Amino acid sequence: MNTPSPTAYTPTAKALHWLVAVAALGQLALGFWMVQLPNTGGGQAQWFNLHKSIGIVIGLVILLRLGWRLTHPAPPLPGHIPAWQRTTAKIVHGSLYACLVIIPLSGFIGSSVTKYPIRFFGHPLPRWMAESPAIKEVCSQIHFAAIVVFILLIAIHVGKVLKHVLIDRDGTLHRMTWGGAPAPKANAAKELAGSKSPI
Ligand code: HEM
Ligand code: HEM
Repeated sequence: MNTPSPTAYTPTAKALHWLVAVAALGQLALGFWMVQLPNTGGGQAQWFNLHKSIGIVIGLVILLRLGWRLTHPAPPLPGHIPAWQRTTAKIVHGSLYACLVIIPLSGFIGSSVTKYPIRFFGHPLPRWMAESPAIKEVCSQIHFAAIVVFILLIAIHVGKVLKHVLIDRDGTLHRMTWGGAPAPKANAAKELAGSKSPI
């Protein structure tokens, strides 16, 4: 007997998605805020170390998330979604994952080659790389460039989800949330009527 395909992500995937989403958005805000602070009296350094500590934790959670994702495939997308949208969704999701790895990794490597040890929630981490202003500069540029790409991807991702919620009303958000999924409305009706997707 065939088991029906899942229509939503696993509870673990959902929990990791929302944990990482909230943490990453908070970390973006903290990052942009802390770089504006005056570099006097050690105040900025404290916030930098908090940013580094939270960023390392996010990086570890992302590894967990990637491990989970690689062993638990995404639920198949509903049949009405056209092929090109399936492809773009894969590209956007894959690129979000790439940013989620590149951003903490570049931050961590860049911070490991400065003369200041990373203070992980107050505890200095052992030095594992020699000091190198050149590597630090490259890592800072990668950190920043990946952040710009990440923000664009989040805008596309959230815009797409909002379109599914407000226009298509096809229950896509419920694939990543808790509680019962409503019956798909707009597209189910279109499919029955044999019409094409409006996009
Ligand atoms: C998801 C994780 C992270 C996000 C979203 C994030 C975001 C940001 C943002 C928005 C900035 C300000 C823009 C800029 O100047 O580049 C910044 C700066 C910075 N971040 Fe992160 N960051 C993350 C992880 C990390 C980690 C793990 C470290 C180090 C262990 C780190 C170290 C730094 C440093 C040192 C700066 C100051 C600018 C520089 O020296 O490059 N970040 N980050
Ligand atoms: C920093 C913010 C966010 C990041 C990094 C992020 C990342 C991702 C990634 C990588 C996936 C693909 C999951 C997989 O197949 O493994 C995904 C799916 C999803 N995300 Fe986000 N997300 C963020 C914010 C949001 C927000 C704010 C919403 C709601 C408005 C949202 C709703 C969804 C939904 C509904 C899916 C499932 C899409 C589908 O079924 O194809 N995400 N997200």
